[in-house]
Amino acid sequence: MKYNVLLLGSGGREHALAWGIAKSPKLEQLFIAPGNPGTESLGKNVQLNASDFDEVWEFIQAHSIHLTIVGPEQPLVEGIADFLEEKCHAVFGPKQQAAMLEGSKEFAKDFMKRHDIPTAGYEVFSQDEFDKAAEYIIEKGEYPVVLKADGLAGGKGVLIPENESDAISALEELQDGSLSDAASRLVIEEFMEGEEASVFAICDGDSYKVIGNAQDHKRIGEGDTGLNTGGMGAYSPAPIVTKELLKRVESEIIQPTVSGMKSEGNPYQGILYVGLMITKDGPKVVEYNCRFGDPECQVIVPAMRSDLLEVIISCTEGRLSETDIELDDKYRCTVVMVSGGYPQSYDKGKEIRGVDKVDSGILFHAGTKIENGKLLTNGGRVLNIVGEGESLHEAIDNSYTQVKKISFEKAFFRNDIGAKGIKRLA
Ligand code: AMP
Ligand code: GLY
Repeated sequence: MKYNVLLLGSGGREHALAWGIAKSPKLEQLFIAPGNPGTESLGKNVQLNASDFDEVWEFIQAHSIHLTIVGPEQPLVEGIADFLEEKCHAVFGPKQQAAMLEGSKEFAKDFMKRHDIPTAGYEVFSQDEFDKAAEYIIEKGEYPVVLKADGLAGGKGVLIPENESDAISALEELQDGSLSDAASRLVIEEFMEGEEASVFAICDGDSYKVIGNAQDHKRIGEGDTGLNTGGMGAYSPAPIVTKELLKRVESEIIQPTVSGMKSEGNPYQGILYVGLMITKDGPKVVEYNCRFGDPECQVIVPAMRSDLLEVIISCTEGRLSETDIELDDKYRCTVVMVSGGYPQSYDKGKEIRGVDKVDSGILFHAGTKIENGKLLTNGGRVLNIVGEGESLHEAIDNSYTQVKKISFEKAFFRNDIGAKGIKRLA
């Protein structure tokens, strides 16, 4: 059987997924909603609002779609997988209650506590318990302290004040400021010391397979300084994730997460993204995400030698354990080119030059558009340039060689993507 596939999303992550799926001999037709100029050459971009489930369902029926793959977290947390499964449609991505691992920090922390999964100690407060929360922080007197809005906050819901007065201001921000919607509940966590890494597992509700690890670069500035972003670059594999460490991550974190979700009647199907802090006591969970990372997906999907679509179908049919997943052993680095000013305000509509000169690696689009035959910027994160190599050094060099061929007004990128990995290898 050949599949008509609908992929939801528009970022670099979805371009990478579309790139992987388009290679499959099992694919009949690929639709990407809304997609971007990069996905246009791999399938057909269509305008759909992923939060309007009826609209999505109408499209699925009209185009005889067999499988829907959900890229971003928002529709999953809103319950798109439940809605489509009720209609007996195959969906790749967790149901609403399972997506709560990302959708509610309180749910995730309580879940980890119930299943003895290593993470930072925490307390939860409601928004009107400001005084209690302040008292708790002051009494503990341990700084930095980590304050998290319970709900989805587009990566901006975590504040890490360094002292008491900053902690009080942070609490005020969570109670009354721009984060107040996401922070109807507030999680206060111990600060974990260490280096971060992410491990990705694909799950069918019953079993899982690890499909890669990576290190993201969340801050806008070199040396991990400045404001948080969606991610300025990533590389894979990360040398900090040794074989021994991965064993611990699987046995102490991934296995108990998958079996815990199943035993609680919430089988987890989809990509499980585990954000880790590698502490001196071992790996601990910083956060779960219920989808691929962006830009981590761009360095993980290309490593898959197996048919990505077949692997995804095997998950939706609950037969992942019978499916072999073969990964190559190359290193990959992706540098994200962003619009100057991102993650705050930035201009759009700037002409992008030099894309035609890219002659190695892979170019994944994110915030771009085509107007009058010209490629223009159309978002904060604009392009992802993936370099490959036998070594991390080579992958990084290859990536930057291509990045330097591309230009647009006020283009910005970090020059130190992968540097942490190189330091560890030295
Ligand atoms: P999250 O959205 O939960 O991933 O948090 C965003 C970022 O805040 C993480 O990538 C970490 O850099 C940092 N962070 C979150 N929780 C902690 C913690 N308990 N200890 C140290 N850093 C943390
Ligand atoms: N790159 C971080 C994320 O996708 O959440």
